[in-house]
Amino acid sequence: MEKRNVPKHIGIIMDGNGRWAKQRGLPRSEGHKAGANVFRKICDYADEIGVKYITFYAFSTENWRRPPEEVSALMDLFRAYLREAEERQEENREKGMRIHFLGHREGVPEDILALFDTTEEESKDADRIDVNIAINYGGRLEIVDAVKKIAEKVRNGEIEPEDITEDDISNNIYTAGQDDPDLIIRPSGEYRLSNFLIWQSAYSEFWFSDILWPDFTEADLDKAIDDYNNRNRRFGGV
Ligand code: IPE
Ligand code: IPE
Ligand code: MG
Repeated sequence: MEKRNVPKHIGIIMDGNGRWAKQRGLPRSEGHKAGANVFRKICDYADEIGVKYITFYAFSTENWRRPPEEVSALMDLFRAYLREAEERQEENREKGMRIHFLGHREGVPEDILALFDTTEEESKDADRIDVNIAINYGGRLEIVDAVKKIAEKVRNGEIEPEDITEDDISNNIYTAGQDDPDLIIRPSGEYRLSNFLIWQSAYSEFWFSDILWPDFTEADLDKAIDDYNNRNRRFGGV
């Protein structure tokens, strides 16, 4: 087989957990649990094939609109997952995964924020793959947060408004310092971004599929990468 070009940064919208559970007559929370296991598996596989950055969309700023039972089931799942990962620190370090949480901190329970901080701190020296987990993430809010930081610099006289560039935005969003996603994957049959990486995806390639996230396999990731290899990225050129 011809050597394929593995995207440096892949973004994944982990969608379809609820429908997966419904198909099985299970509560939606069971779909989220199944989805979390797939997250683990795909994260390991991405590392294995040489992906450098991977961003998983786990909870959007709009997901607070869901029934309180579902929101709290999701928060419980994040909490349990992060506590468990904390116990396996050594193993995680060996895996070389540097974890970042992307999102707006306000609104997230304090104990979960503390788990974000310790997880990031403990993994900060890992250098094989950067794993971004987007929780309480919204692309528009991310841009608003960046604009506020830049406005503060203007107020302090550090920068003139006419000198603001695209790089200033890129350097003040949650993914500052990372390459933009080359490929964005959305399973579950929806054809939209739902406020995911809207600044960063200006020139991303998109891959959609009807597979529900808990059914997503390594072979599906391979298929997405193979299709990506047949795309012609022009970036506005010829
Ligand atoms: C994605 O699955 C998980 C989150 C948004 C937290 P959904 O819960 O949106 O699953 P569907 O879309 O209802 O099937
Ligand atoms: C997008 O899925 C958010 C996550 C997967 C975390 P949603 O299920 O919330 O998106 P919509 O509501 O169908 O656009
Ligand atoms: Mg959904």
